Amino acid sequence: TMKGAIFDLDGVIVDTAKYHYLAWRSLAKRLGFEFTEEDNERLKGVSRMESLQILLEVGGVEANEAERLEMADAKNKEYVDYISRLEPSEILPGAREYLLQLRSRGVKVALGSASKNAEFILNRLGIAELFDAVIDGTKVSKAKPDPEVFLAASAALGLEPSACVVFEDAAAGVQAGKAAGSKVVGIGSADILAEADRVINGLYELAEIH
Ligand code: BG6
Ligand code: MG
Repeated sequence: TMKGAIFDLDGVIVDTAKYHYLAWRSLAKRLGFEFTEEDNERLKGVSRMESLQILLEVGGVEANEAERLEMADAKNKEYVDYISRLEPSEILPGAREYLLQLRSRGVKVALGSASKNAEFILNRLGIAELFDAVIDGTKVSKAKPDPEVFLAASAALGLEPSACVVFEDAAAGVQAGKAAGSKVVGIGSADILAEADRVINGLYELAEIH
């Protein structure tokens, strides 16, 4: 039985993927190429610098380390502009209810995200206090599909990974959860999340909403 629940943030708790996309797309535009929504799928769950790497490959753009840092910084500034205006109404359907229900059942709850903006987003949405532990991009060095973020999250809850269920919307995240030794619930398309133990459309399917 599930003693701990570990949630990815972007695409699971809140739909920030669209803001990541807008900010990456405008960087691509400044660099002189189109970055499509299909290209953007490859960035889900991937760290900021690795996302930039993929984007530069798509555009066939060469850049040195200093230029890359500047580009990543410009993208993040634009992204932070968007998320500074996030509203609690942008929490995905059922997410808040499900977190509350897990807590009332005594299940420990953690965040396991690649984002360095995770704390900021949780505070903006008013749900920071629903997490017993927050492991984010400021605390781990190896990106999903490496299991580091989920191993750290289960350790922070004081639980074995096998007693935890990971909730993920990205293929790399599902792989990371499996590699950690947890059960994984994929959120989204069964094609993309084939390795998950179960695939649902959203947390609203698990939350009991009265
Ligand atoms: C992940 C997102 O949660 O965080 C990625 O799915 C994003 O798209 C990554 O690149 C890093 O986020 P941030 O906020 O640190 O740039
Ligand atoms: Mg995600």
